[in-house]
Amino acid sequence: MKYTDKMLREGALKGKNIVVTGGGSGLGKSMTRYFLELGAKVAITSRNLEKLKNTAKELEDETGSTCLPLQCDVRHYDQVEEMKNQVIEAFGTVDVLLNNAAGNFISPTERLSANAFDTIIDIVLKGTKNCTLAFGKHWIDTQYKNTTVLNIVTTYAWTGSAYVVPSATAKAGVLAMTRSLAVEWAKYGMRFNAIAPGPFPTKGAWDRLVPGDLAEKLDFSKRVPLSRTGEHQELANLAAYLVSDFSAYVNGEVITIDGGEWIKGAGQFNLLEQVPEEMWDQLEAMIRAKKNK
Ligand code: HXC
Ligand code: NAP
Repeated sequence: MKYTDKMLREGALKGKNIVVTGGGSGLGKSMTRYFLELGAKVAITSRNLEKLKNTAKELEDETGSTCLPLQCDVRHYDQVEEMKNQVIEAFGTVDVLLNNAAGNFISPTERLSANAFDTIIDIVLKGTKNCTLAFGKHWIDTQYKNTTVLNIVTTYAWTGSAYVVPSATAKAGVLAMTRSLAVEWAKYGMRFNAIAPGPFPTKGAWDRLVPGDLAEKLDFSKRVPLSRTGEHQELANLAAYLVSDFSAYVNGEVITIDGGEWIKGAGQFNLLEQVPEEMWDQLEAMIRAKKNK
């Protein structure tokens, strides 16, 4: 068995209707592909309808399942409501909302205009709020139960991170929303969980976060204890589990999938891995020599 193998049993998402925001590219597209393979119907939404149509056609051809492309800028509540109505018209019901759409770029915070900061907050935090509110109210009004909201955050949602401050601020808000609604709306039959991915190469993220030769200089794989970046199928496996009924008792959880990246930065003595093996005899002798002195 390989870690890139597909995890869930055939038909595990049969009967589920899923909305994936930002589903036309990157991780959203990879998760959508796997949901379709597992028998779900998926509506993919973003600003760029042409891109969505191409993705939907490609994935329908690959999987034989239904993928519906819908234009929707998550920053605008009226567009989100319209998208929700279109999905319901097409699918009848919606069982899963995957808030995956995001905007981000690296910048010293003092270089950001107020509008630049707002743009990221509006896509990530307000966009997640808009979709969650629209679908949540709909599920409550129609008493439709056994629904799931899965939010994609980042590990810096709790640690914070320099140079991506609007994104860190917004993702922290999404994490708080996830945990809050996991409790408040459980009575309406909704579950809320989040995934915090470490580095998973995508064009969208890499163009904006490690442009030019920064990718080589920063080399994400060196920051990760497991010495590699993530494979999209690994994330898709986790997402499929979290939106499936196999995870029916998982609620209010955020699952990190980062090869140990963030915790490596956190442990005070973790950088001792730079000490060469042969030096440990010397260090041990020095420490032992100090005993009782
Ligand atoms: C400073 C910038 C900037 C930059 C844009 N702005 N790029 N400021 N440095 N590099 C400013 C603009 O001048 C403008 O402010 C404001 O931001 C809005 O920019 P627009 O281009 O008008 O916005 P828009 O067309 O809506 O595009 C949004 C975007 C863009 C976020 C700027 O990058 C985008 O479409 N991103 C979507 C995809 C994405 O970001 N994917 C990566 C997700 S990765 P003014 O004041 O001039 O009007 C992720 C986590 C990764 O989230 C973690 C990895 C480990
Ligand atoms: P991506 O391909 O750029 O995905 C972002 C998606 O969001 C795009 O499809 C984009 O489509 C959509 N989007 C942006 N603004 C939007 C808006 N206003 N309304 C609707 N859709 C919008 O990047 P990705 O790496 O796959 O990121 C996917 C998710 O994973 C994000 O939540 C990101 O924060 C998270 N993440 C990624 C990594 C990583 O290493 N890749 C790590 C941690 C977290 P349009 O441009 O067509 O609108």
